[in-house]
Amino acid sequence: MAFLGLNWRLLLLVSGDIVTRDSFEWLFNIPEIVKASESGGRLKDDMASHKFEQKRGHVTSDVECYMKEYGVTEEEAKVALTKQVDNAWKDINKELLRINTIPRPLLFRVLNLTRVIEVLYKNEDGYTHPSGVVKGFVASVLIRPVPI
Ligand SMILES: *[C@@H]1O[C@H](CO)[C@@H](O)[C@H](O)[C@H]1NC(C)=O
Repeated sequence: MAFLGLNWRLLLLVSGDIVTRDSFEWLFNIPEIVKASESGGRLKDDMASHKFEQKRGHVTSDVECYMKEYGVTEEEAKVALTKQVDNAWKDINKELLRINTIPRPLLFRVLNLTRVIEVLYKNEDGYTHPSGVVKGFVASVLIRPVPI
């Protein structure tokens, strides 16, 4: 999931005038909120895509690692990993409340990207297979928006 690495930090930097030198440095030092976003996103991705990726011969995912390390079933591994995702969200929320030196719009970009990942991988791997649920989400935002 390359978009969770450096690429998405670069995307944030396209945020124009809200990115100061301080916030640029803050972002590239990989702050807790970004770590939490990346680890939660990684876990959501692995839980949604590990079966398909095993078929494609990908390297072992978090799900397989957890199963092997703790000798548990896939379902038990997913319960435990979901708790880790929940903890990552708690860390993100804590950081949003704590940080007061970084422009809020930049923090909200991190939050919103994390939200997108949560939606993309909610019940399936919507990033790899966008023609499912994700296609409907995109259409409802860009093609058939609900009038407010
Ligand atoms: C984040 O998402 C909220 C809710 O959709 C939106 O109102 C806000 O403009 C977004 N902020 C940024 C910085 O992307």
